[in-house]
Amino acid sequence: MGKNLVLIGFMGTGKSTIGLRLAQRLGMEFVDMDREIEALNGMSVADLFKHYGEVRFRSEERLMAKKLGQREHIVIATGGGTVITEENTAALSENGILICLDAHPEDIFARVNRKKGTRPLLKNDISLNDIKRLLQEREECYQCACIRVNTSDKDFDMVVNEIIQALAINSSD
Ligand code: S3P
Repeated sequence: MGKNLVLIGFMGTGKSTIGLRLAQRLGMEFVDMDREIEALNGMSVADLFKHYGEVRFRSEERLMAKKLGQREHIVIATGGGTVITEENTAALSENGILICLDAHPEDIFARVNRKKGTRPLLKNDISLNDIKRLLQEREECYQCACIRVNTSDKDFDMVVNEIIQALAINSSD
């Protein structure tokens, strides 16, 4: 059965961009969980949070993790909070290799500030310390990945190459 490649990691670590490029390189289909949730609900993640709250978003996220976990041979970009829920991690791991993207807190801070308003969990006046605290809180959940790649100070191709190399090493173990 063709394993899925599942990109996990904090907001702003490059999951969607890297996921698309990785899929293109490997000739696999790319699926972005948040975009799928948006298409299904006819509204942005930000609007889902605003109108129906985080609980509703997490419930949509759980359904999507379950659905995508049953697919084969696709690259999936998760949302930064997807693997906080164990049920999602289990569903996505069933036929998937979890790859965590990391980045320096300073880079995450700069990246999320460039896209203000699209991430409902982050207040407009979010500080670097808030990012560091949230990263620490979530670190344990990201440790479920069997491959971790830091995206700071690297271009997209370098990150994609690193992932492909790590996958080759993993499969020869
Ligand atoms: C979230 C991250 C977002 C999105 C939602 C919640 C989180 O995805 O799923 O706003 O809990 O970290 P990105 O990681 O793509 O920003």
